[in-house]
Amino acid sequence: MTKRIIIDTDPGVDDALTFLLALASPEIKLEALTTVQGNVTIEKATRNALSVLELVQASQIPVVQGCSHPLLKTPHNSGEAVHGQSGIGKSVLPEPTSKPIEGHAVDYLIERVLAEPDELSIFPIGPLTNIALAIRKEPRFAKAVKELVIMGGAIRSGGNITPLAEFNINEDPHAAHIVFHSGIPITLVPLDATYKCLLTSDDVERLNKIDSPIARFVRDATATYMDFYLKYEGFKGCALHDPLTLAVIFASEIFTFEDHYVDVDISGGISTGKTFADFMRVAKKPSNIKVALDVRGRDFVELFLERMETLSRSISD
Ligand code: RIB
Ligand code: CA
Repeated sequence: MTKRIIIDTDPGVDDALTFLLALASPEIKLEALTTVQGNVTIEKATRNALSVLELVQASQIPVVQGCSHPLLKTPHNSGEAVHGQSGIGKSVLPEPTSKPIEGHAVDYLIERVLAEPDELSIFPIGPLTNIALAIRKEPRFAKAVKELVIMGGAIRSGGNITPLAEFNINEDPHAAHIVFHSGIPITLVPLDATYKCLLTSDDVERLNKIDSPIARFVRDATATYMDFYLKYEGFKGCALHDPLTLAVIFASEIFTFEDHYVDVDISGGISTGKTFADFMRVAKKPSNIKVALDVRGRDFVELFLERMETLSRSISD
């Protein structure tokens, strides 16, 4: 039984790799992409979503533009160092010929979910602004959406945008607070797991034994990311943060999941955006999130590569 998903995204290099992985996975039916500001501006995010779908000959999948700003904070606009000026690294894709569909992503999410209650899973892999507004705008949304599988947060891990906070949550912590307390079934895939899934330059070289625009895109899109990693982490690699969320569908056995009461700091101080789990259950609150606290990272990277190789062989120049 294929899982029908909508990806809410701020493409973003690892976001783009997630689209490829979804399209290379028979267990998944990618219903739509909704875009949100995060790694790049909303205009670049929407353009990149359209361009990458065109690259993989999947322009039939709707793209709907969403929020250009977080609920309260001002945009961080820091993504270029990691994702490149375009948002998709050093890859150069032609201007998309397809256009986003009319209307706002928040309304699209509400409309789709209410039309088919308990059928559609949403995979937010950027700031949670669109999701939070859908929850607030339509009280029936939270009950109708099947689940959220979110890339975000740092539970025991340090942060990647502040010493404590992960980028997606930190970019819009108020949205995350609304989502975490919405009652929607949530699986959270935080940095604790995603930083164990490092695509290496050797992996990219292996993929590029296949002469394909897909293999070249993975190489070029990850180039900036790998330069950044080499400079700051001393390792030529690219953490597959967003793509790992999809493994919840087709390889759940590689994860270590625990149910916990999870919250996010919105107090406005130095730890704003920090996500934390009540491991000692001192708050005496019911668990609200299933958290991926660990993963067999290399097993995921191998799965990712196998599926990228299959996709690369299916699309030639
Ligand atoms: O912290 C990792 C997350 O921030 C990923 O979604 C990446 O695309 C960036 O948005
Ligand atoms: Ca992202």
